[in-house]
Order: sequence, then structure tokens, then C-alpha cells
Amino acid sequence: MTDMRKVLIFDTTLRDGEQSPGCSMNLAEKLEVARALQALKVDVIEAGFAIASPGDFEAVRAVAEMITDCTVCSLARSMEKDIVRAAEAVKPARRPRIHVFCATSEIHRLHKLKRAKEEIVKMSVDAVKLARTFVGDVEFSPEDASRTERDFLAEVVSAVIEAGATTVNIPDTVGYAMPAEFGDLIRYLVANVPNISRAIISVHCHNDLGLAVANSLAAIRAGAGQVECTVNGIGERAGNASLEEIVMGINTRRDFLNVSCGVSTQRIYPTSRLVSSVTGLAVQRNKAVVGENAFAHEAGIHQHGMMANRETYEIMKPEDIGIPSSKLVLGKHSGRHALKQRIEALGHTLDDGQIDRAFDKFKVLADKKKEVFDEDIEAIIGEEIEQVAQVWTLQAVQTVAGSTATPTATVTLSREGQSTTDAAIGDGPVDAAYEAISRITGVKLTLRDYSLRAITSGKDAQGEVTIEVEHEGRRFRARGVSTDIVEASARAYLAAVNRAAAGTW
Ligand code: KIV
Ligand code: ZN
Repeated sequence: MTDMRKVLIFDTTLRDGEQSPGCSMNLAEKLEVARALQALKVDVIEAGFAIASPGDFEAVRAVAEMITDCTVCSLARSMEKDIVRAAEAVKPARRPRIHVFCATSEIHRLHKLKRAKEEIVKMSVDAVKLARTFVGDVEFSPEDASRTERDFLAEVVSAVIEAGATTVNIPDTVGYAMPAEFGDLIRYLVANVPNISRAIISVHCHNDLGLAVANSLAAIRAGAGQVECTVNGIGERAGNASLEEIVMGINTRRDFLNVSCGVSTQRIYPTSRLVSSVTGLAVQRNKAVVGENAFAHEAGIHQHGMMANRETYEIMKPEDIGIPSSKLVLGKHSGRHALKQRIEALGHTLDDGQIDRAFDKFKVLADKKKEVFDEDIEAIIGEEIEQVAQVWTLQAVQTVAGSTATPTATVTLSREGQSTTDAAIGDGPVDAAYEAISRITGVKLTLRDYSLRAITSGKDAQGEVTIEVEHEGRRFRARGVSTDIVEASARAYLAAVNRAAAGTW
């Protein structure tokens, strides 16, 4: 145990994860996720891409100001303006890192950058040297490394280490590599880059062929000392390597991999729930480690084995990843203290004002529903975190619908204490409500996706509506929850309108 090599966990949920369509988070949500990542004890938080927008810059800076226990990093292209902006954003961090990248594969050199090999080496070296004038911790990524000629990749890696890179990250940008091949690539670099021992080798794998985790674990076996990943595997296209699968792979197969990591595994499940709730991206039922079915044993023969000895069919314990062993149910007699404790057990850190507002909502819900489950509480918390962008609030929604009626909705919204009511017709009651909201607010969104689910079992379950909308060329998600599904739909649409109106999408 004592001489086990430690692998660093670099989380990029707030950068590569957030960058993927429909996963955008507002500042309050990013800070909530960053707090959860710190509690999870990841080593590095990549908080964003500072040059991308003023919102990204603010988010990286706010995370850098708040986080005390992890390295905080910003991405930057190999360009002076990017690096200067990244440096400014991570400046308040206790442990700041700048992560510069430059594509190295032939296809990127010829068609994207239109640069010769020598120019790529020079750009990369200059970028690392400039970043080193701001911080001592600089990571360099040769983008599309897995499709780069090996000898050229080794040349770039060696040059950036010489220039001062302290971590060299080898991305499988398009998820093209096979595990044995990717492990072999890391071994090749270890053998052919003379100064490799002066930097940590990192890997960053995408999941286009479903191999991101397998490739990352193969790279660890071959000597990688850092793995880049996201919670629930969110990210560009098919996503990034999933943090929970990598960490539980390392922990469960320590005997084979002979490495350890510092992640507090009991925080995995609450963090997964948090990321799912703020992005609106549901975790698939049969997802490894954190899916609803991950620990469900249905077949009779399996249940029999489990009763005799859990280890017959269970390689990890649910409690090791923080799945609550029993579900605590709150009701209308539960007090503020009980709610606060449950919120904390679910992995959230709300301030006193937020707890007060959550408690008011909890009381209203407990009056409507006999039993309030964890999922109900998470829905309240989700709304509370999203509150930041609240410009309009929903006061009432009434609809008329039926097989022979023209669907009509009457909606009352308030803004700065002033109420406005309007009515509209539509293809159905939800469409009519959306039309009425658009008429009142003057904000018209294009609905790209709509989904409805019951968040708990039971006839009195709350309905959760998640929508994906497009506004001024950007897509984002929003959620609404209510025991009335038309109201839940209206709340989701209004949350999206509020984000658009506040410019925080
Ligand atoms: O996938 C990729 O290549 C990246 C780099 C910027 C590290 O995200
Ligand atoms: Zn990536």
C-alpha cells in the first residue's frame, strides 16, 4: 500500500463538460459544483476557458477565489491574449495552473491551423514560456495527440517540457484510440522523450467509441500520473472519461493497477446527482457506478447469491460511493433543522437565506404531499440554485384543454412587484402557456427538447420538466418542478426566459 503510485484526478466538468451543448451552467451553479468537487477531493479543477466569454472569465476567477484545497486551472490556446486572460482569471487561486494547448496531428496542422511542424513547435514552446512567467504550474496539451505522428509528438512533448511545462497531457481528442494502442503510446513517450521524468504525464480521453475510461486506465498502467475526467462523463459529443468510473476502477482494481487516488469516494453519488440536476442531463439507468440500476439485483439467482454473501455479485458497496443506505422521508412536521441536515447529507451547501427559502417551499410541498423524498428536496435545491437569474416569477397559470376544447392558457407573471396577465392559445396547454409567457416577457425561445418525468413514485409525485431551448444561437437547458405538470412546464420555460433575460445562459 505505502509505495503505491498516486494518480492525480483532474476534473474538467466545468470546462470540457460545461462546453458541451445543453450543459451550460450559470455562475451560482458552477460555484456549487466547484464546492462539491473540492469536497470530493479532486486534485485539479479546470474551472473554464477564461478567454471564451466574460461569463467564463468571471466563473474561473470566482472559483479561483473560493477554492482552497485544489489546484484551479484555466484553459488557453497557444496565444498571448488567451494566456494573459487565463493568468488573470486564476491569479486569486492558492494553487493556480494555466493549461495551454496546440493541435499537433497532421489533419489539424493542415486544415485547422495551416501551420508547418516547426511553427507548431515554436507556438507551443512560446506559449508555455509565456504561461510560466505568470505561474509555476503549466500544463501543455498537444490536441489530437493520439492521431499525431509519434516521433513528432515526442518532439513537441520534449520541447514543451524544456520550455517549462510541468504536466504534459496526451488527449485522445476524438475518441479514436484503442486501449492497448493508447497504453502503448504512453509507453512510447516514456521511452522516447529524454526529459519526460521532469513532467507528469496526463491523459484526456473522449468517449466516441465508448472507450474513454478503458483508454485512461490503460494509460495509467503505462505510467500516466494524472487523468482528466468529468462527473457523469459529460462532455463534447459522447462525453469525456467519467470520473466515477475511473476512481472506482482504481479503487476496486488496486490489485491490478497498483495505483491509488485521493478522491473521497463517499462524495461520488451526491456529486453525480448535483451535476445531473444543474445540467438537466439525466444519468442513464444502467450507467456504471452511479446509475439507478448499478446496484439493483433483479434476477432470482443473483438475489439468492446476494443473500448468502454480498460479494457473490457485488464488486463495490453502494455505501462506498455515498448511496444512502435508507431513504429518509420528511413530512409536514419536519423542522428547518431536519431539512438542513438532509440538504447537507445530499451534498449541497446552501447559505442561510437559501435554506430559509428552501424551507418555505418545503412546507408548501409537504402540505400537498404526505411524504417528501430526497428527490423532492433535490428539486427544491435545484430551483434555489437557479434562482439567481430570476427576473420574472410565476404567480399563476390556468389552462383549458380537452379533446374538444381549444387549448388556452392564462398566465400571470410578476417583475419587480408588478403583475402582468396575458392569455394565449396553442397546440396544447403547454404550448399555450409558453406562448402566453413569451407575450408577457417579450422573450421568444425555440424549444428544441422537452421531457417530463415523475421524480418519485406515487400518485402525488412531482413532475419534473426539463427543456432545451435555443436563444441567439446558444442552446441551454432549464427545469421546472410541480405536482401539476402544466405548472412544471411553465416553470421550466420561465426559468429559461429568466436566464435569457439576465444573459446568464
Ligand atoms: O479534447 C481535447 O483535446 C481537449 C484539450 C483542450 C485538452 O479538450
Ligand atoms: Zn476534451
